[in-house]
Amino acid sequence: MKNLTKSMMVVALATIAGITPVINSCVHQPFVVPDSLLAGDPTICFDRDILPIFQSSCAKSGCHNAASHEEGYVLDSYAGILKKGIVKGNPSASKIYQSIIGAPGVDRMPQVGPSLPDASIQLIKRWIAAGATNDTSACSDNCDTTNYAYNSAIKPMMQKYCAGCHYTSPKNFNTYTDIKEQAVNGNLIPCIEHASGFAPMPESGSKFTDCQITVVKKWVAAGAQEN
Ligand code: HEC
Repeated sequence: MKNLTKSMMVVALATIAGITPVINSCVHQPFVVPDSLLAGDPTICFDRDILPIFQSSCAKSGCHNAASHEEGYVLDSYAGILKKGIVKGNPSASKIYQSIIGAPGVDRMPQVGPSLPDASIQLIKRWIAAGATNDTSACSDNCDTTNYAYNSAIKPMMQKYCAGCHYTSPKNFNTYTDIKEQAVNGNLIPCIEHASGFAPMPESGSKFTDCQITVVKKWVAAGAQEN
């Protein structure tokens, strides 16, 4: 009787204080991912938008490629990325997402070199939130050969496909100066064209499409400007 009175007092006081007491607040509902989220984000194409980030920043030799696979993570394919690191619909529960944002208690990835650019982190987050699908319907080639300006075409391309490995001088592909240097010294184009006698680039990723190669060539031909 005494206890009942006491709890009624607490309820009354909390109500006076403007707090509505929640009865049974400790029952946890399992988190159910809504189907709408798992349907995928129609603007994200895994092969075009997500895989190259992993290939350039994580699947390099000594990290998470098929030969080294640190801690069993092989991050060079859809199946490998999904296997251990992703909880569909839930970025913050996904080990891969926790590691790229450097969440407390998780090793920050990539372990060597700078963190992923914010745009890549946001894209991966959106992709996981939308169900981490391998939807090919979004995979139209959105490359445009009429846009070969440095800031809108070349820089994002180099950041996404190349700077995961090349982040130190004299080949820091986050910087205009170093990209231009490789363009004018005659290495850049043969490397992306996989010409014989040159290291085929991006090293652990798919070859650029004809359109992407054309964009780089046009930029170089027009003077490799910082435009
Ligand atoms: C997975 C890692 C990795 C990625 C991704 C990568 N590279 Fe490389 N790249 C290397 C390595 C390793 C070398 C050889 C050592 C060096 O020269 O730094 C190299 C060398 C080069 C060279 C010098 C070749 C020469 O003969 O001197 C160029 C130019 C180059 N890469 C351009 C690129 C471009 C452009 C991209 C993106 C399209 C790219 N790389 C993506 C690892 C990578």
